[in-house]
Amino acid sequence: MPSEPIIFCENLVKLYKIGDIEVMALQGLDLTVEEGEMLAIIGNSGSGKSTLMNVIGGLDRPTAGKIHVNGTDLLKLSDKEMMNYMRETIGFVWQNTARNMVPYLNAIDNVKLVMQMAGKLDVNRANMLLEVVGLEHRKKNKMHELSGGEQQRVAIAIALANSPKILLADEPTGAVDTKTTAQIMNLFHTVNADLGVTTVIVTHDRQLSHMVKRVVTISDGRIGTEFIRREEMNMESDEIMNATAGHDQGSHVEYGFIDGRRRLFLPENYLSAIGLKEKSKVSIEIGDDQLILRNPEREAAQGEQ
Ligand SMILES: Nc1ncnc2c1ncn2[C@@H]1O[C@H](COP(=O)(O)OP(=O)(O)OP(=O)(O)O)[C@@H](O)[C@H]1O
Ligand SMILES: [Mg+2]
Repeated sequence: MPSEPIIFCENLVKLYKIGDIEVMALQGLDLTVEEGEMLAIIGNSGSGKSTLMNVIGGLDRPTAGKIHVNGTDLLKLSDKEMMNYMRETIGFVWQNTARNMVPYLNAIDNVKLVMQMAGKLDVNRANMLLEVVGLEHRKKNKMHELSGGEQQRVAIAIALANSPKILLADEPTGAVDTKTTAQIMNLFHTVNADLGVTTVIVTHDRQLSHMVKRVVTISDGRIGTEFIRREEMNMESDEIMNATAGHDQGSHVEYGFIDGRRRLFLPENYLSAIGLKEKSKVSIEIGDDQLILRNPEREAAQGEQ
């Protein structure tokens, strides 16, 4: 029997109200993430990325829809249970390094502090984590003595302190240069592979799509197209830089997506290739295990010739 996905969102809605104004940050979002997966969610500013991270991470509650994480229905949790869920199941990495750590403590004490707050101090694990992120030689340094990239490495160690099942990273490379971005993404891969932590990274940076196997897009609070990389990636940073310099569309299988209301989302370049725009009518034909979509206007024009 296939195992249950570790993250399951169906028809997720999040409505923010400020005075008389309502903002639908999530508008019927569907998302499934399998245990151990690494996934990037890419979308423009305001598309609902942080809202989704906050809802999955238990910082915010959805207005409607379903959300099950690690076998738990988050809508059924009391505030206290939600606190425990956040502490035990989720590790967060934020773009703003100040949000990830206490500035006047050194790196190792920051990791230990998060363990102490959960009542589970494990000095060996704290040392091991700083080794995993490649900063054992800087563990006694305070945050202002570390570069932005090093601070994000510490942030990853802190997020992993209490052995979370899921690592959620909201624009973790938003404040670092391209080379450091590649190194940090490399580290997410190591953590995902070696510690088996399910990892979800949200970003507006389309270049990151070259560095993660499964990529889904988000726009207007809904999941759009999905890409799966075909070949194994060599995560050496120089090669990533080369890969991201051009468009290597050929290395991705492109997927459309059917949401919980049977609506089909298709990549724009596929639609424009046959002259379809938003809200165009499409003709559908069933073949052997396939659906064939055609532009009825072009078909009619060809019929007349
Ligand atoms: N606490 C809030 N109160 C009211 N509106 C909010 C709140 N948080 C987010 N929004 C609105 O919800 C929408 C989605 O915001 P969200 O922060 O999830 O986007 P984002 O994809 O993370 O954007 P960015 O890339 O700029 O971080 C936006 O229109 C935003 O203004
Ligand atoms: Mg955001």
